[in-house]
Amino acid sequence: MAALCAFKKHLVNILFLCYSVFDLIYVQFKGEFKLEKLVIEGKTRLSGDVTINGAKNAAVAIIPATLLIDGICTLDNVPNISDVKISCDILEDLGAKITWNSEHCFTIDTRNIHSTSAPIDKTSKFRASYYLLGALLSRFKHAEVGSPGGCKLGARPIDQHIKGFELLGAKVKVAQGKITASSKHLQGTSIYLDTVSVGATINIMLAAVLADGTTTIENVAKEPHIVDVANFLNTMGADIHGAGTDTIKINGVRKLKSEGTYSVVPDQIETGTFMLAAVASQGDVTIHNCIPEHMASLSSKIVEMGANIEEFDDSIRVWCDKRPSKVNIKTLPYPGFPTDLQPQVGVVLSIADGTSIINESIWESRFQYTGELNKMGANINAQGKTAIFEGVEKLSGAPVYATDLRAGAALIIAGVIAEGTTELYNIEHIDRGYESIEEKFRKLGANIKRVNE
Ligand code: UD1
Repeated sequence: MAALCAFKKHLVNILFLCYSVFDLIYVQFKGEFKLEKLVIEGKTRLSGDVTINGAKNAAVAIIPATLLIDGICTLDNVPNISDVKISCDILEDLGAKITWNSEHCFTIDTRNIHSTSAPIDKTSKFRASYYLLGALLSRFKHAEVGSPGGCKLGARPIDQHIKGFELLGAKVKVAQGKITASSKHLQGTSIYLDTVSVGATINIMLAAVLADGTTTIENVAKEPHIVDVANFLNTMGADIHGAGTDTIKINGVRKLKSEGTYSVVPDQIETGTFMLAAVASQGDVTIHNCIPEHMASLSSKIVEMGANIEEFDDSIRVWCDKRPSKVNIKTLPYPGFPTDLQPQVGVVLSIADGTSIINESIWESRFQYTGELNKMGANINAQGKTAIFEGVEKLSGAPVYATDLRAGAALIIAGVIAEGTTELYNIEHIDRGYESIEEKFRKLGANIKRVNE
C-alpha cells in the first residue's frame, strides 16, 4: 500500500513537471508561432498629421558603433522596431549594458564587453549585423559575426567591406556561415570602393576610426544615415571629414570619449512612405519631424505626378486632388531616387494616368511586390531590373504577402487605396523597420487593424 502511494505521488510529480515544461515552452515560443496579419478596409483618402521616427538605417549602424566607446553613451530618437531590438540584444550578449530611459531613448554601457563573437542565430535576422565586424575589429582587433540576413533583394555581396578591412591590415576569413576579421594592428590607408555601397562605406569608416594614421575612402555612398553615423562618431571624439561627399577622410584617434549623448536623424524612407501614401490616396498629409532636404528626389517626382508639396523647417505637407500622372523612375544612390522607396512609388504608378517605367539600378530582384499588386488588379510587367506600369483606374482588395520590408509598406498603401478588403501577411518584415505603422495610418483615417490568428 505504501509503495502504491509513493508511486502515485511520483506520477503526480511527473505529470506536474511535464505540464510545467510544456507551459514554459508554450510561453517561450508562442511569439514565434503566432500568425499576424493586417486587415485593411479601403478605400480611404488619407488626411491629417503623422510624426516620423528616427532612421532605422542610422540606428542599426549607430548601435554597433557604440562598441567603439569604452564608456557610456545615451542614444535618443531611436525607433522602436525589431531590427533595433535585435541589435540591442546582440550588444547585450557581447557584454554591453543597456538601460531604457524612455520608449525612444536608452543608455548603453560598453565598458565590460567580454566577447567579440556575435551569435549567428541573431546576426542572420537582419542586414546591419555586418556593422559589428567594423566596430569590433576597430576596438578589439577581432570580430566573428554570422553571415548577415535582411531582405531578399538579389545577391548582396560584402566584398567591398572585406576589401576595406584587408587594406587596413586585417585578415578576413569567410567560412561555415561566419565572417572572421582580425588584426594585430590597423593602419590607415587609401581605399577606393568599386561600387557605391552604404554598408561598405559605414563599415570601413567604423574600422578606421581607431586605426593608426589617416584613411581615405573614395567613391563612397552619401545617404543621410552615413552622415548621421559620422556625426555620431565625431560627437564621441572621432575625426571624420567629408561624410555626405564622394570622399571620406578619417584621421585615426587613440580613444573615443567615455561619455556622450546623440539623437538619431529622422527616417528618410518612412517620410517618403507617407508622402507617397498621401499621393496614392489623393489625400492631404502633413509629415512632422522630417528633413525636407533629404526628400528632394522624391519631392520633384511627386510634383511631376501633379501633386503638391509645401516644405517647412522640419515638416512637409503633401496633397493631391487628382489622379497622379505617369512618371519614369530610375533608382540611384543618394541624392538619386532611393531604391527603398521604389515599391511605394510603384503603388502610385499602378493607379497613375498613363504608362510609367521603373528602372531598378541597385538590386537585381526588387519587383517581387508587383506580383502581389497584380493580384489587386494592377497591370505591371516586370522583367529583370525594369517594370512597366500600365496605370489602372483602381485596385481591389485581395490577400497579399509582404515579400520584404518596403514591399510590405507599399502593400499597406495599396490596401488603403483599394476597394474592398486587403489581408496582408508576412508583416514581421514590416515590423523590422516601421514603428507603429498601422496606428500611424489609422490616425490618418485608414481602416486598418492587426489581427492575431
Ligand atoms: C543599404 C540599406 C538598404 C538599401 C541599400 C541601398 C541598410 C541596413 N540597408 O543596404 O535598405 O536598399 O543600402 O540604398 O542600411 N555591393 C557590392 N559589394 C559590396 C556591397 C554592396 O557589390 O561589398 C552592391 C550591392 O549588391 C548593391 C549595391 O552595391 O547592388 C548597393 O548595396 P549597399 O549600398 O551596400 O546596400 P546595403 O548596405 O546592403
